[in-house]
Amino acid sequence: MQARTVTETEKVKEFRHRIREEGLIFWERPDVLAILDPQTAQRVEALNYADLTMFDDVADVLRGRESAPFNWNKLRQGWLGQMRHLNDTDGLRAIAGRMDAILAAEAGREQDLLWLGERVAVEPLIPAIIDGLGPVDRRWVVSEVFSKIAWFLSDVDDGRVSSWHKPKMITLQVLAGLAVRRELKGRLSGRRPRRKDLTDPVVDMIPTLGLGRAVDAVTSLLTAVTGSPGAAAACLLFELDHNPEWRAKMEAELGAIPLDEFCTSPTRLAPITGRFVKEVLRIWSTPPVVVREVRTDLEHGDVCLKKGQQYVLSSYMLHHGEQDWGNADVFDPDRWLAEARRSGQCPHGSYVPFGWAPKSCIGANLGMAQMMLLAHFVCTRYALRVPEHGRGSMAVASLVRPRDFRGAIVRRDGTTQGANAA
Ligand code: HEM
Repeated sequence: MQARTVTETEKVKEFRHRIREEGLIFWERPDVLAILDPQTAQRVEALNYADLTMFDDVADVLRGRESAPFNWNKLRQGWLGQMRHLNDTDGLRAIAGRMDAILAAEAGREQDLLWLGERVAVEPLIPAIIDGLGPVDRRWVVSEVFSKIAWFLSDVDDGRVSSWHKPKMITLQVLAGLAVRRELKGRLSGRRPRRKDLTDPVVDMIPTLGLGRAVDAVTSLLTAVTGSPGAAAACLLFELDHNPEWRAKMEAELGAIPLDEFCTSPTRLAPITGRFVKEVLRIWSTPPVVVREVRTDLEHGDVCLKKGQQYVLSSYMLHHGEQDWGNADVFDPDRWLAEARRSGQCPHGSYVPFGWAPKSCIGANLGMAQMMLLAHFVCTRYALRVPEHGRGSMAVASLVRPRDFRGAIVRRDGTTQGANAA
């Protein structure tokens, strides 16, 4: 394994310092409690989100009336039900096909591998969220999602966005919202067909949810995939480049499993790759820090929070806590071997790459499967070429991702290079 340079924001550095000085729970600012103890984080999240009633529809607020109460859990249940189709063998084959199309088109072109990771993870998810859009509406939705991603990445990356990015992003938000609205109305009226995407369960809820909140629900799905999946994919590429011995093991494992078969059960069929992916999601967990509004007065042990205050959680700090993880800063997929886990590694509650219940990621299984698929592609059909091998560093900012990580993916059969090849 090669040494990696990691740049952490001042906030993360401060957390590390204050944990040493004050322990795992401290007032970060007068009204903001940092909760970096795994069990307390779990409990406080459960208490804070015990009532998941959605906010009123903006249209109702403007008319001065209350919307019918609607529980967010109903939406989650609808999405989780649909996830079973998206994550089954056919669903994964469809996603794999879309990922392959992007990799094939980009093969041979030297580029920013962070952006390629974003594209190969996020673009294939958009039809899983909302399928069947016409070309113009699809373009608005894709552009809106990627304008948000560029915005997040501009926190520490110079040159990601231009000075007019924000107005453009807001315009795209409006256009994408209208595209979602048209699709929802079309399906509700029967003019457009029902589909096996995450928008579909929302259609049946429109009579109680209202069209405005239905649009918000679908756009919240689009927003949810702008943070973690692409950053995680780029981190996977980064670790493959930095760990040639693991890449060799994965090439041997994955080379023996044809893609079609792999889609039947990726993690079961490829345990070595599964450990690698789990370790990527541990060491580079995104978003590293989340800030929560306290929704209701709550108490747990010594923690006492009042509505209106805030608390901060950090999966990144939990995943790097020396009390729970031996050599926490070392990339070691073998810590996920059953023997290591039995000896107290990876304790329950300290591994939260998909967040905390009851607001944890609804796409955890699909996200995991997609990481496995990316590993399969880059270890079999394609190869990663980083001219300055081991180059790049990691940035722990609003997202955790590689920086200055340029290179290309190339086809192993050396035949067709992508349409965009230089
Ligand atoms: C490796 C891939 C992924 C990672 C690491 C990841 C991580 C996360 C995390 C950490 C959260 C909680 C954020 C918070 O607490 O504020 C979250 C929430 C969420 N994720 Fe993912 N995610 C991934 C893939 C996906 C996919 C594929 C989908 C859907 C297609 C998805 C949809 C969502 C949604 C809708 C939420 C919000 C849930 C709620 O508010 O009830 N994620 N994700």
